[in-house]
Amino acid sequence: MIQTRPFRLLLNRHHGTPGIVVLPEGGFRRARAEITSWPGYEPTPLLALDDIAKAARVAAVHWKDEAPRFGLGSFKALGGAYAVAKLLIGELARRDIAPHASTAELEAGAHRHAAQAITVTCATDGNHGRSVAWGARRFGCACVIFVHEAVSQGRRDAIAKYGAEIRVVPGTYDDAVRECARTAEREAWFVVSDTSWEGYTEIPRDVMQGYRLMAEEAAGQLPAPPTHAFVPGGVGGVAAAVSVQLRARFGAAPRLVVAEPEKAACLLASAEAGRPVPVRGELDTLMAGLACGEPSLLAWQELERGAFAFAAVADDSAVDAMRLLARRAPPLVAGESAVAGLAAFLLAASDPLSRAMLGLDADSRVLLFGTEGATDPALYARLTGAAA
Ligand SMILES: Cc1ncc(COP(=O)(O)O)c(C=O)c1O
Repeated sequence: MIQTRPFRLLLNRHHGTPGIVVLPEGGFRRARAEITSWPGYEPTPLLALDDIAKAARVAAVHWKDEAPRFGLGSFKALGGAYAVAKLLIGELARRDIAPHASTAELEAGAHRHAAQAITVTCATDGNHGRSVAWGARRFGCACVIFVHEAVSQGRRDAIAKYGAEIRVVPGTYDDAVRECARTAEREAWFVVSDTSWEGYTEIPRDVMQGYRLMAEEAAGQLPAPPTHAFVPGGVGGVAAAVSVQLRARFGAAPRLVVAEPEKAACLLASAEAGRPVPVRGELDTLMAGLACGEPSLLAWQELERGAFAFAAVADDSAVDAMRLLARRAPPLVAGESAVAGLAAFLLAASDPLSRAMLGLDADSRVLLFGTEGATDPALYARLTGAAA
């Protein structure tokens, strides 16, 4: 299916041990009620990839296609924008402006002056910033987004389109996270981060509650419960959200595999170390959304026992997987960060030892989270030779 290339696979020795509740159910119910009420909300498609299932010798492969999500091109639309809405409503109440404002009122321009006086900010490698900027535009507050140098012009433009100010920071995504936090502290802005750290968990928890809707939709669309799910890992937020939601829907049975780029595999490194650890270096990977060197604290608290295994794949394998999808009939458009799980699945499925480690066999039903479409169309065209 795709070329055999080296990859890493690590079984999680703590899988299934009891731990703390990172994402309480009440928070998810609120997120789901809010997001599904937004104009333009529609579940994204779940596609059966029978050709890939046959070639990988498993019973079924399903692809949750986040490309059409709210016209933003990725699942991130669910998290950042929801957290912006929740923050604004809370802040308007705290300032005695509106005790119970709704997003419908905010979108209609109620409390406009008060909302404009509030600035939200975040660091991003593209998709999260787009979601925060989109939410800020929709709900009427100001927005400043920090990107590191390697974030492509296409991705910067896609954020600026929603009226956000863009600030470029030398270094990596993690440097942008720190610069954003420092500036926000100085300016009294509100950081709406998709990653969490000691003492900063409330907003990232809302972001992750929003992500759960993707897994909840997929659970309702599947013809039968999955045995395995593969999800891309950056700071781990989306993988943790999927882990929680699959457990809520299907119990402990589905085996979750978190797939990262080999040069930014901080979750795999943390599983190896038995505690959250950073990976250093340039983090230079084509999979821009996954170029994160430090796990999110909250995500780690879920994944340290929720993930069945961690995998790390090379950029070349991601390109192989993008091309495979682009050339099948009908073609499927998936961005670089979306295919980490597919690449890990195909590599594992064709390697007898990895197949055995994961328990992949002819009865396996595999759910893949295709977390973005061609969020950088020029790059997509260059990598696949196909137009997005
Ligand atoms: C398309 C895509 N997939 C996956 C991820 C990883 O999400 P997380 O950082 O929550 O692990 C990102 C993060 O930006 C992304 O943009």
